[in-house]
Amino acid sequence: MSAPAGRPLHLAAFFQGVNHTTVWSDPAAGSQVAFSSFAHMARTAERGTFDFFFLAEGLRLREQKGLIHELDVVGRPESIAVLSALAAVTTHLGLAATMSTTFNEPYELARRFATLDLLSGGRAGWNVVTSSDAFTGENFRRGGYLQHHERYSRAAEFTELARALWASWEPGAVLGDRALGRFLDDARVHEVVHSGPQFDVRARATLPPSPQGRPVVIQAGDSEEGRDFAASTADVIFSRHSTLEAGRAFVADVRGRAVRSGRRAGDVKVLPAVSWVLGASAREAAERAEQIRFQQVTPATAIAFAEQVWNRDLSDCDPDGPLPDVEPVEGELLSQGRAASRRIDRAAVSAQWRELSRTRGLTLRETAAEMSSHQSFVGTPEQVADEMIAFVDADACDGFVLTPHLNPHGLDDFVDEVVPLLRERGRFRTEYTSTTLRGHLGLEG
Ligand SMILES: Cc1cc2nc3c(=O)[nH]c(=O)nc-3n(C[C@H](O)[C@H](O)[C@H](O)COP(=O)(O)O)c2cc1C
Repeated sequence: MSAPAGRPLHLAAFFQGVNHTTVWSDPAAGSQVAFSSFAHMARTAERGTFDFFFLAEGLRLREQKGLIHELDVVGRPESIAVLSALAAVTTHLGLAATMSTTFNEPYELARRFATLDLLSGGRAGWNVVTSSDAFTGENFRRGGYLQHHERYSRAAEFTELARALWASWEPGAVLGDRALGRFLDDARVHEVVHSGPQFDVRARATLPPSPQGRPVVIQAGDSEEGRDFAASTADVIFSRHSTLEAGRAFVADVRGRAVRSGRRAGDVKVLPAVSWVLGASAREAAERAEQIRFQQVTPATAIAFAEQVWNRDLSDCDPDGPLPDVEPVEGELLSQGRAASRRIDRAAVSAQWRELSRTRGLTLRETAAEMSSHQSFVGTPEQVADEMIAFVDADACDGFVLTPHLNPHGLDDFVDEVVPLLRERGRFRTEYTSTTLRGHLGLEG
């Protein structure tokens, strides 16, 4: 008798936006803003029976040393608009957008997600982020910026209110989708009354629930408060812990927090962001991976990364020479508007760069390429499929958010070469068995 197959993997496709890991200089790279790019990747993900397609959010053009970052100038469309258009060219794929609770209002955002959820037939997901900087906050009324703990208390109140609005229509409150010109019993469309430190709202939702009941809630944020918020609230965590050991520690930590907050350990799925490089042999894959790392980290990018760590102008450094022989400086940030510019332990990170450069004899650019590399799975399709399965079996995650290094064709090889192997091994669906995102994720309503 053969052993029963382990639990199924969950897969999502991440359209990278402006990250340096996307190689826009590659001749195969397409537009970052054309609908055809989004549509190609979404259709590829659906062909691969993925759980969902996923967009990040960046609300202000990044700057370094007062200059706008070139990649940002290529543009970043508003996510719910993009996903609404994708709903029309896909039938089963989940559609998830990252939206900040710091810069939005609950009634408005709950309504926009409820609309996407209805338009797509129950496929919407909301990645709740609190966003990290006053720089982005300048775009908004009131300055929009809150201290870290206030961002999370706002996020908790925001999500609770959004959920109350999504749950406020009694089942059967509507008789189908046509108005019959009658007055409805008041008790069937409940008024949501909320009064808290952040929001004072008395509202009725304007939409019935979708076939999945309410949008799936995803969360990305890694502090103690972020983890507590995710463990008590989210259906899915988008994590940055993409190695086996870090993944196992993270999963054990957030599952423990989920249980302490009264949920079951499996109520929250953990999906780290990962990338992959395939080759006909392990050696070919390793060579391709190295080429890609150097496409990603050009000489100018290497200097920019070093400046983000050292927080000082390093334009005089030779990217093909040694690391800067000066110490990092604290104080006002040189780089604004990207997650990596948040306050890091500059002494510790620069020491890691130095150690790597010294022990392996690497130049500044080579060190930057190694330190910023997120190449999680490198090998033949068989090796990649087996390693991914091993991660899930070791409880390092429940699946993966795949971040291609090329748009819009970067997912093609994974869907053509790895997905069939995951299916053969009985670890990934061969066809959709549900029409909703909640159903794909195996979550209860
Ligand atoms: C994997 C991951 C992805 C994130 N993606 C976004 C994003 O697309 N947009 C955004 O504004 N913030 C994003 N964030 C930042 C979070 O919103 C949060 O502000 C930041 O991580 C600080 O919170 P923390 O201290 O709890 O980690 C992301 C964070 C993580 C860990």
